[in-house]
Amino acid sequence: MQQLLVSNSTPLTGSVTISGSKNGTLPLLAAAMLIEGETIIENVPDIHDVDTMLQMLQALGIECIFLQPGVLKIDATDINSCQAPYHLVRQMRGSFYVAGPLLGRLGEAQVPLPGGCVIGSRPVDFHVAGFEALGARVDDTYGIMRAQAPSGLHGNRIYLDPRWRSVGATINVMLAATLAKGTTTIENASCEPEVVACSQFLKQCGAQIEGVGSNILTIRGVEKLEGTRFASIPDRMEAGTFMYATAIAGGDVRLKRVYPDHLVMVIDRLREAGVRVETDGDQLRIIASSDRPRPVDITTAPYPGFPTDLQPAHGVLAARATGTSVLEETIFDARYNYTDELARMGADIRITGQLAIVKGVPQLTGAPVEATDVRAAAALVLAALGAEGQTVIDNAHFLDRGYQNFEAKLHAIGASMVRQDDGNSKELLCLA
Ligand code: EPU
Repeated sequence: MQQLLVSNSTPLTGSVTISGSKNGTLPLLAAAMLIEGETIIENVPDIHDVDTMLQMLQALGIECIFLQPGVLKIDATDINSCQAPYHLVRQMRGSFYVAGPLLGRLGEAQVPLPGGCVIGSRPVDFHVAGFEALGARVDDTYGIMRAQAPSGLHGNRIYLDPRWRSVGATINVMLAATLAKGTTTIENASCEPEVVACSQFLKQCGAQIEGVGSNILTIRGVEKLEGTRFASIPDRMEAGTFMYATAIAGGDVRLKRVYPDHLVMVIDRLREAGVRVETDGDQLRIIASSDRPRPVDITTAPYPGFPTDLQPAHGVLAARATGTSVLEETIFDARYNYTDELARMGADIRITGQLAIVKGVPQLTGAPVEATDVRAAAALVLAALGAEGQTVIDNAHFLDRGYQNFEAKLHAIGASMVRQDDGNSKELLCLA
């Protein structure tokens, strides 16, 4: 098992270049499956989840070649299988994105159901209902979703659950509908930047999509798409993680290649806590306060609300605040796993249903802790940077799923940590 040994860090200073987005790139890789030809995707992050998705595409017979670091050529002229291997779907929930393109392009998809996840129950019923509304016959016995539309998909009105405006279902249904006959509308569509980027990519390839960035998407099916060149958006969760790292460890850090517009809610909450955040084009400067942070409440919500993926980082900041903060997690029902570990570092956190009541303490102390998913792992690193003494984080491999060169980037701005393998093979899976 991989362990990360993190020491209290002197104030962080310098600059960090943000990589391409994990959750923005995975849908682009799936969308490239709709194109009978070559597509070039730039700013592809070098992370484990992208690697898993590329293995998935290759297992379906699609050619994927890196022309240079971060620049990927995908040739989906031939797709020779509609069966997604279970060992890849179980590693990463995002691989379920292949269902929509397989159905749209081949009229058939067999994709194992992704199953449970440590951050909460994560069904795919909205995706399935969307495929059925487009005319597919779906059977999900024996743990596999088998969708068939031998005479093609037909546009329809699809109404997603307004409580969540599911990111995954919006993308999967949009991918399936792009080559369908007729017009599809998706109501209560997600408007996360990653969904917008996927829609823009599809449009650049010839898809007819209106309402991009809104909660109603209208997709007029086209017969085929043409290959294009498209850059993945910067990872707003990586940027947010470095913003919180600076706020927690102290210091003055500049983030390069970010879209500050994607982080408006996060910037607002950090400013409320007393952190100085300056925006300048595609750069952000974060200047931590020398005082403890002020307590700030958050409620996670679909974009443009506060992102669930940064809730753990906010929990760490709140743990050191001068008063009590209330966090409300509305997206995933088990995303407070990290708080038990923070409590081992001296945090005072009580969970009641969707709420975390966090009473700030003057100082956290290093302790052995265990990460349960990629965002929990990042939050524990942030806690460790600001804690007294050394923290040993088990399951550090989770960081590699979503953060390119995380430790190297933190080292470059003054953080001190080292990764080791303790020789124990126990590893947890989380389907982020
Ligand atoms: N939901 C259903 N049925 C469905 C789909 C979703 O009940 O068919 C529920 C989920 O259980 C959840 C809520 O709807 O309670 C929202 O889920 P959503 O579909 O929006 O999430 P997702 O597409 O599975 C993506 C990101 C997550 C991110 C969420 C929310 C990817 C690969 N994953 O998941 O990212 O937290 O949107 O923004 O894009 C991460 O990066 O660490 C991560 C977990």
